[in-house]
Amino acid sequence: MSWREYWNQDTPIYVNARHKAVHYELIARQLVDALPQGRPAVLDFGCGEALSADLVAKQCQVLHLCDGAELVRTRLKQKFGLLGNVVVMAPEQLGEIPDASLDLIVVNSVLQYLSRADLDSLLATWRRLLKPDGQLLIADVIPPDVGPLTDVMALLKLAAANGFFIASFVGLARTFFSDYRKTRAALGLAHYSETDILAILSAAGFDARRRQPNLGHNPARMAFVAVPRS
Ligand SMILES: C[S@@+](CC[C@H](N)C(=O)[O-])C[C@H]1O[C@@H](n2cnc3c(N)ncnc32)[C@H](O)[C@@H]1O
Repeated sequence: MSWREYWNQDTPIYVNARHKAVHYELIARQLVDALPQGRPAVLDFGCGEALSADLVAKQCQVLHLCDGAELVRTRLKQKFGLLGNVVVMAPEQLGEIPDASLDLIVVNSVLQYLSRADLDSLLATWRRLLKPDGQLLIADVIPPDVGPLTDVMALLKLAAANGFFIASFVGLARTFFSDYRKTRAALGLAHYSETDILAILSAAGFDARRRQPNLGHNPARMAFVAVPRS
């Protein structure tokens, strides 16, 4: 199984519905804060179920929600299909977005599931789709020294603050015995240092810097803002 195939099913990543809702609302609110001025054209790549994407869409001219999993896309279409400025698409459809038309591309918690070859190819695509003054926001990148224990501590803190602390223990036990752990052990997750990412982005034609804070609830992971080099 590839990571892309893995995500085409219900996964034990979220301990319950409350966790999933809290997660996606946090991401949506952070994205709203990160939007460029005006009514930007935005691509959220590897968006997942993006349960609060309507909050982001309200501020956008167009919001492209792109995910590799068909199941995820079906749910996105069911939830947001009636919003006139939300376009749900597969990665293979990125060519339908005009070149140099996007103000912001967000890639949150996705790099760990991409091969290096796929990342390089996507960076070329994202660069082509961005306006000359557009921004690429890559977040939740896992540094080499950050392992599952750090993820567990960050989850428990989020759970304690949002009323699903007890449920999180049940959820963590379920994850431990699930195929996520087996898939993680078999396929691995890509880890990058800050230096790695800045070098990869530079080689792909971007000027990049570390962004503080990260998106989401895990401050041990890293975010970067990159702009196409002219
Ligand atoms: C951990 S979830 C992150 C979802 C969302 N960005 C968030 O912040 O919660 C990873 C998402 O990346 C998607 N994904 C994984 N590999 C992909 C690929 N090669 N192309 C597009 N999407 C991919 C998965 O389907 C999944 O929805």
